[in-house]
Amino acid sequence: MSLFVKKPLEQLLAQASDSSHGLKRTLGAGNLVALGIGAIIGAGLFVRTAAAAGEHAGPAVTLSFIFAAVGCAFAGLCYAEFASMIPVAGSAYTYAYVTMGEFVAWVIGWALVLEYALGAATVSIAWSEFLNKLLGGSIPYEWCHSPFQKALIDGTMHHGIMNAPALFILLALSLLLIKGTQESAFVNTIIVIVKVSIVLVFIWIGWQFINPANHTPYLIPADAKPALLPDGSSYSYESMWDHGWFGVIAGAGVVFFAFIGFDAISTAAQESKNPKRDMPIGILGSLVICTILYILFSYVLTGVAPYTDFMLKGKEASVAYAIDAYMPGYGWLSTLVTVAILAGFSSVILVMLMGQSRVFYSMSVDGLLPKVFAELHPTFRTPYKSNMLLFIFVGLIATLLPGDITGDLTSIGTLFAFVLVCVGVLVMRKANPNAVRAFKTPWVPFVPIMGIVVCSTMIIGLDSVTQLVAFLWLLIGLVVYFTYSKRNSVIRK
Ligand code: ALA
Repeated sequence: MSLFVKKPLEQLLAQASDSSHGLKRTLGAGNLVALGIGAIIGAGLFVRTAAAAGEHAGPAVTLSFIFAAVGCAFAGLCYAEFASMIPVAGSAYTYAYVTMGEFVAWVIGWALVLEYALGAATVSIAWSEFLNKLLGGSIPYEWCHSPFQKALIDGTMHHGIMNAPALFILLALSLLLIKGTQESAFVNTIIVIVKVSIVLVFIWIGWQFINPANHTPYLIPADAKPALLPDGSSYSYESMWDHGWFGVIAGAGVVFFAFIGFDAISTAAQESKNPKRDMPIGILGSLVICTILYILFSYVLTGVAPYTDFMLKGKEASVAYAIDAYMPGYGWLSTLVTVAILAGFSSVILVMLMGQSRVFYSMSVDGLLPKVFAELHPTFRTPYKSNMLLFIFVGLIATLLPGDITGDLTSIGTLFAFVLVCVGVLVMRKANPNAVRAFKTPWVPFVPIMGIVVCSTMIIGLDSVTQLVAFLWLLIGLVVYFTYSKRNSVIRK
């Protein structure tokens, strides 16, 4: 049988409608938008914005957000067509199985591990930063940083050992997930309200503290002075991707992280009550709301603090830093923001961990991964073993790697999956033109092609180490595919 053996659409749909045995259908359109925003607003906005501004784009990080949003909108329209057509857990992985065959599906499923597992790790690392901020920096540097990080504090060089708070939050949320989706969705809705409110309050109050000098020049100039780093070294803006318009694009690859999650909604298709109508609403609705908030938020943040601050003192818990340093009298806001952010990050981690376990669930049902990933808990009907194994994997990454690395890997894995989903819409329109599509991507082939172009541009703009590691990850995936998955694939039997 060929590498490109496809899963028949009819079989998938039958599988989806068999709700007596599979996952429970409990989520409506409102839950989905909430699930989306819950997954979307997180470390990308509250941590990676500052990193993108400090390293690549300066105040023009607002433009990076616009660029990334455009890529997401194109890909989102493609996702929505698939999600309304194939309402089955597993997201892009499942879509690819139907359209482009098993091999491509495997590649996407493997790339989605970067998205969800590393995404969860990145946000848990950010969670640890803000927790430390809330506790007044009382967690020793060694115990809230990776072994690859060091900083000069009061004249002494400190080296990280492990990021313990990140591990803690991952464990707590893995346990919550095992308990069940419905409860998780309820907790999530409350958190979403808090999170959006705090973004609005920061924009509102911070606006009065914008210093126009911080916005001039708007793009980082080629001859910008190097920025100081925590370990005492300095960061030069000379490279093509670290200033001007290319810096804006590189920044887009970094802040792209902030948009990740709207596609996670599609992983819950099998748990949604009316996926055909509600999936597109959930995906596009949450994307639009977040884009508007992000542009305003990043405009205020880079107006309040100069972007070079985000390389040194403001590198961690940047929002709280900006408030403390430049908005006198608003200490209470800094505390409030920090608390809200901690709650907000939790909901992101929750959705990411859930997305990851659902992708593995689908891959395991298909025989591409061991059965253990599809075993449901007898009472909770959640893939509890999968949740525990993922906790170990994500926990290891979060305790041992710095957030910059996991964040950019998350972006690249997701961008890659997006590109393949856009390709999938083109393929599906040719191969299966008459299948019922509750939502059709407009202006095909323009929209999918633009999705491919914009997302690929962001991949190119990410740094070469990230590209290399992602490539190695893909190679490992190929080995697993040819030694295990291909032999155990249900469809081949
Ligand atoms: N978009 C999510 C975040 O920013 C992953 O945390």
